Amino acid sequence: MKINNVVVIGSGTMGSGIAAHLCNANIPVTLLDLKTEISQKAKDKIYKSRPPLLIDKSKIDNIKIGNIEDDFNIVKEADWIVEAVVERINIKHNIYDKIFKNRKSGAIVSSNTSSIPIKILSQNLSIEEKKDFCITHFFNPVRYMGLLEIVKNENTDLKKINHLKEFCEKQLGKGAIICNDTPGFLGNRVGVYAMQVAMTEAFKMKLSVEEADAIFGRPMGIPKTGVFGLYDLIGIDLMSDVLKSFVKELPKNDEFQIVAREIPLIKKLIENGFTGRKGKGGFYKMNKIGDKKILEAINLETGEYSPSKKIEIKIEKVDLKKLINRDDKYGLYAWSVISKIIKYASSLIPEITNKFNDIDEAMRLGFNWSKGPFEMLNEIGVKNFFEKVDSFKNNQFLENLSKTKDENFYGERQLYTDIETLGKIKTRAVRLDKNDSAEIYRFKDFNIVEFTTKANALNYDSMDCLKKATDKPLIIINESMQFSAGVNLNYVMNFAEKKDFKSIEKFIKYFQETCKHLKYSKHPVISAPSGLTLGGGYEVVVQSNYVVSHVNIVMGLVETIVGLVPAGGGCKEMLWRWSQTKEAKNDPDYAPLKVFDIIGYAKTATSPIEAEPLMFLNSQDKKVMNRNSLLTESKLLLNKEKNFKPPNECKFKLSGNQVREKMLKTLEKLYNDKKILDHGLEVGKELAYVLSGGDTNLKRELSEDNVYSLELNAFMKLIKTKSTQDRIKHTLTTGKPLIN
Ligand code: NAI
Repeated sequence: MKINNVVVIGSGTMGSGIAAHLCNANIPVTLLDLKTEISQKAKDKIYKSRPPLLIDKSKIDNIKIGNIEDDFNIVKEADWIVEAVVERINIKHNIYDKIFKNRKSGAIVSSNTSSIPIKILSQNLSIEEKKDFCITHFFNPVRYMGLLEIVKNENTDLKKINHLKEFCEKQLGKGAIICNDTPGFLGNRVGVYAMQVAMTEAFKMKLSVEEADAIFGRPMGIPKTGVFGLYDLIGIDLMSDVLKSFVKELPKNDEFQIVAREIPLIKKLIENGFTGRKGKGGFYKMNKIGDKKILEAINLETGEYSPSKKIEIKIEKVDLKKLINRDDKYGLYAWSVISKIIKYASSLIPEITNKFNDIDEAMRLGFNWSKGPFEMLNEIGVKNFFEKVDSFKNNQFLENLSKTKDENFYGERQLYTDIETLGKIKTRAVRLDKNDSAEIYRFKDFNIVEFTTKANALNYDSMDCLKKATDKPLIIINESMQFSAGVNLNYVMNFAEKKDFKSIEKFIKYFQETCKHLKYSKHPVISAPSGLTLGGGYEVVVQSNYVVSHVNIVMGLVETIVGLVPAGGGCKEMLWRWSQTKEAKNDPDYAPLKVFDIIGYAKTATSPIEAEPLMFLNSQDKKVMNRNSLLTESKLLLNKEKNFKPPNECKFKLSGNQVREKMLKTLEKLYNDKKILDHGLEVGKELAYVLSGGDTNLKRELSEDNVYSLELNAFMKLIKTKSTQDRIKHTLTTGKPLIN
């Protein structure tokens, strides 16, 4: 059976996210709620959502809306009906009653519940109806979270489940993991346990909120929101309900019960309306003193707030071994939390799932961890783990492992999918080279470069790997969330602070040389971006021969935000792309002015659909829904391009002063209107200099090298200024740009 038409019932956070994502996959969808006004509001919210739930906002009207009284007939046409109403069993039962009376025979019916077992949800259904019923547990926000848990029990038709899995994987791009009907399924069972351990250990070991978040975050390969930050984000009251449901559903001897005990401080916070970001604040809160906003954190012992302290845990990379062996309270805390998570996750094997691998993948896809508990164990090393760990009674998995001491217990990753992903093939590929910033793999007859730094920020070493890898066709692809957030500004600032501008110049030249080398090497180069693809990261993409892009990207040249201009070929390539348009044929200044606008305002695209009109991507660039498919699609492209020839070198005709005058006029107006200040004016002038071609005129042709030189000169001029350095420092310390 095919899924050509879907009805989603309940248009709250999840229902509207699911409907939006079906729209992203071009599947006709109708969103029903108690009243049409509620679904209309939900639709308006989808349209305005940030980050956007829709890949292409212009498709919003492909989401039809209605209410469950007047428009229920639509259910008769649906191949799949998703229930996403409030977590109240009687309401859900009433809805199922109505759905099963109206659905066409064989249509799949699923619930998005996060805590009610199938057994209870389906208790009023007939045996035939139960065959078509399951749980499809999406994560919020639906477009961006990779995990979809499809929960079945002994009554579910497995053929249908597999069919649904294939649909959700191929068309919706989800990492669909089939789970059994156990409390919290896989992701929340381990994820919520992990949060509770991180929290209760912080109380026990007397760590501050900021200290716990600084450890249970980036150093462990976990999002920087940490534990208390995440609590505030989810809602402290909601977390309390989630815990109550776990306590009720899980056996009394489950370790979860210990960490789910009520904490008096939390009870008090909820009672007083401190439910997190949506309430008066939570573990953190914003305090307004005069016209200044100050972030405060709670003292876990006294319940008093004081200004939040930044905890400096200098790490460039996740290194669990180093972290758990630290000779301080942070090392003790990290070990205590990690070892408990590993023990708990392994205690669930084989009762909850016999594939430990699925737990890891659920943690990656549903909680954005860079490694799941078993991968953490693998990284720490089996021998090291057992030397350090205390008891692990009634834990069959660990008992077995402690006997075999098999350091290679892990095997292949991502067993839940048949797609040949980067994670899967790494175990079979040969690692040709590796440095602190990137790795080169050889797989069959092509090479792969994966960046490995924080947010995949680029430096000399990243370029080195790229350059070395062009002896074969090359795919540049990463497993981590971001393709690349751009050049490593820390790396650049380290030189700038020592006034070692020669080294910066050397790096930028090497960056340019490498990108040029990628573009013109005799073998094709494919970039497969997902997530942030900014600045230098985008310059790598745009100078590759082909692009296979995930639909979830944030792409653009954002250098002006930190007071710089793109200098790795970004200005050059954008100029070239825009100069190939019809308009540019009649007007030599069309392309430079367009690019001035795009780079000057640091415009970004949040999907390939938005990237095309800005010319960050071309219509022939491949776009894929499932991140897991990036490698396979890139390989298909390589196979098609057996007779690859590198492109011809570009030549530029720019009018110099003529077009620069126009740009300067725009800047002058912005300056007079106080839209930009002195430094913005300075950066704008440098950008204008590059994009106009410097001291050229239309009679003279510029080579790519000429434009690279203009970029380099402008970059070097700006990096030497105090205001650019201040901007970079501000961005590095606060994570936010300095706006003025
Ligand atoms: P929500 O409170 O945002 O939305 C629920 C919607 O259901 C509301 O628009 C309400 O008007 C509608 N509704 C209530 N009774 C209805 C009825 N009889 N017929 C039609 N519509 C009705 O809830 P949310 O957060 O979207 O949750 C929906 C489901 O998804 C729940 O089962 C929840 O446990 C689950 N879930 C929630 C997640 C989250 O992060 N919010 C994550 C994963 C699952």
